[in-house]
Amino acid sequence: MTAQAKPQANSKSKKRRILVTSALPYANGPLHLGHMLEHIQTDIWVRYQRARGNECHYVCADDTHGTAIMLKAEQQGTSPEQLIAQVHSDHCSDFNDFLISHDNYYSTHSDENRDYSAKIYTELYDKGFIAEREITQAFDPEKQLFLADRYIKGTCPKCKAPDQYGDNCEVCGATYAPVDLIDPFSTISGAKPVDKQSVHYFFKLPEFKAFLTQWLSNENLQASVANKLGEWLEAGLQEWDISRDAPYFGFEIPNAPGKFFYVWLDAPIGYMASFKNYCDRENLNFDDFWDSAQAEKQGTELYHFIGKDIINFHGLFWPAMLHACNLRLPNAIYAHGFVMINGEKMSKSRGTFIMARTYLEHFKPEYLRYFFASKLSNGIDDIDLNLEDFVQKVNSDLVGKLVNIASRCAGFITKRFDNTLAAELPDPALQQALIAESKNIGDAYENREFAKATRLVMSLADRINQYIDEQQPWVVAKQEGRDAELQGICSQGICAFATLIVYLKPILPELAVKAEAFLNTNLDWSQLEQSLCGKQINKFKPLLSRIENEGVEKMLTAAKPKEKSKAKQSKKTASKKDNDDSIAAEIEFDDFAKVDLRIALIAKAEHVEGADKLLKLTLDLGEEQRTVFSGIKDAYSPEDLEGKLTVMVANLKPRKMRFGLSEGMVLAAGPGGKNIYLLEPHTGAVPGMRIK
Ligand code: MSP
Ligand code: ZN
Repeated sequence: MTAQAKPQANSKSKKRRILVTSALPYANGPLHLGHMLEHIQTDIWVRYQRARGNECHYVCADDTHGTAIMLKAEQQGTSPEQLIAQVHSDHCSDFNDFLISHDNYYSTHSDENRDYSAKIYTELYDKGFIAEREITQAFDPEKQLFLADRYIKGTCPKCKAPDQYGDNCEVCGATYAPVDLIDPFSTISGAKPVDKQSVHYFFKLPEFKAFLTQWLSNENLQASVANKLGEWLEAGLQEWDISRDAPYFGFEIPNAPGKFFYVWLDAPIGYMASFKNYCDRENLNFDDFWDSAQAEKQGTELYHFIGKDIINFHGLFWPAMLHACNLRLPNAIYAHGFVMINGEKMSKSRGTFIMARTYLEHFKPEYLRYFFASKLSNGIDDIDLNLEDFVQKVNSDLVGKLVNIASRCAGFITKRFDNTLAAELPDPALQQALIAESKNIGDAYENREFAKATRLVMSLADRINQYIDEQQPWVVAKQEGRDAELQGICSQGICAFATLIVYLKPILPELAVKAEAFLNTNLDWSQLEQSLCGKQINKFKPLLSRIENEGVEKMLTAAKPKEKSKAKQSKKTASKKDNDDSIAAEIEFDDFAKVDLRIALIAKAEHVEGADKLLKLTLDLGEEQRTVFSGIKDAYSPEDLEGKLTVMVANLKPRKMRFGLSEGMVLAAGPGGKNIYLLEPHTGAVPGMRIK
């Protein structure tokens, strides 16, 4: 392993060469504010590095593989390729609109990624780091699919709570294996899982114990991350299952037909693939950043920004894989905490699961960039987006303190001095004091202490506002013979504003562009010492406006789950939980009116072999007959039902069940078990009659 020396921060002489990544968002849904925290954090750091003259490349990609994406495409009646193409385009516009400056935003479903994944795997295999063995796993006999724990539900073996996930009970907290569940069912088809054997491929992680012990002594790792990794090492490393059986959306494993790389194998390789794609386009040398020997010789740096939930993948598996293949190691992985909204986890049902797009429809990106920056440290504490605090902070810091400096001074310069700044500042020491803070502010950025950076800048803004308060340019302006003084005071304010914008440019890139237009100059960190004195500026236009609590209300309303998407959700899986969820949403009368309720004659009722709860009903609608499976076996025996009239939903999409196709639903109510009551229509009802 190569020693990871702490890179020299801000050494003037040598420009650093840095590659930075954010974790690859899953391509199975839209981006939310949690993703944005990560990309904003990374982007601020990247922009800071570039501002300091370093060569800093920032790549990312969509993480496109896995069962979830395959199933989602199926639900939408589309192909995974089409789904990921649509999501990619949505993700790109969200990132773009949040001013995230990726150099390349690629996809893990790419030729480059296929090549590198195969290469890395083959090298691991050839070096003896891959084990093969048969394992037993839950299998959905209807869907013909192996089931990960999260796709199995059932009754908790401990507290008997129904509808619990395959690995732990949300009610009593018990942890167990899916086989321990009572009455387990596949959340995909509703079928009862069976055990099935299959050969899997494993990465022999335990062989890397010594290496990983050394890796975690890397002084760049956050203490909390190093501690976590240390705990895992101590608990003992397990071989890592890197294969999944077909059907799976991903890359087939070389020389292993029907076996695919587990999504987490090829995802981090996606960092390399995205960079390779970018190198080819930009004529950069890929090996300078990835070949172990070359990277060391060149002194290039690599950083992965990630959330705290994926530390094991980046801190154990990934470095071990890289090390095994003589690829360079990251200089650090930088983990952050989770976004909370008003002190609580983002929640769909509470309407606080705010999508990036929903935010953008209500507020400018820079408000959130600034707010997150003002909360971010280099630790892994969660970040609370308290929405009152958000409004207050943006208004008081950005509008009240920062932009106010320019708006208080610009008018006089325009009206009275033909847009020309004074040749000298009345208080050069004050301007020097601002410039002198560049070291502290720069260090704060370098160390990802963005909250500290914004605090330092805002205290400078306070000083300037205080200076303006004391000098009272609006009073001076009314007095004769004090023109030079007035021009001096206002120029002092404008020059200070320019300096503060340089400091905030990594956080507020768009504001900086507007300020540059106003000040008629480039605002670069390297030019901090250069004075604007005597220069001509442009007319001031408002740079940012205040935001209102009302906007927050509107955003939250927009974030609330809509009836339509709710209805979709409950159709998605056979999971009982999703059906329960849909109770919470309000529906419009129009939605209800879409339900085609008909009188049906139960022509036949039969037991279903192998089904504990179901009866098979043949329903006569007058003009046609339907087969419906209904979970009413405990409440009715078939003889009781035949010849009776009931009410059915006639336009329910047919659903494939384990025992056959169910073409509708009969209406019944009650708590369950024996206490279920089929709806019985009034006399005079005729089969096929529509009910309004
Ligand atoms: N696809 C994997 C990452 C593969 S990296 C080789 C993944 N995707 S994710 O979409 O679930 O998450 C992407 C990143 O967003 C992760 O770093 C994750 O920690 C982060 N966040 C997801 N939800 C978050 C919050 N609510 N708050 C902050 N960050 C969170 O994991
Ligand atoms: Zn339980």
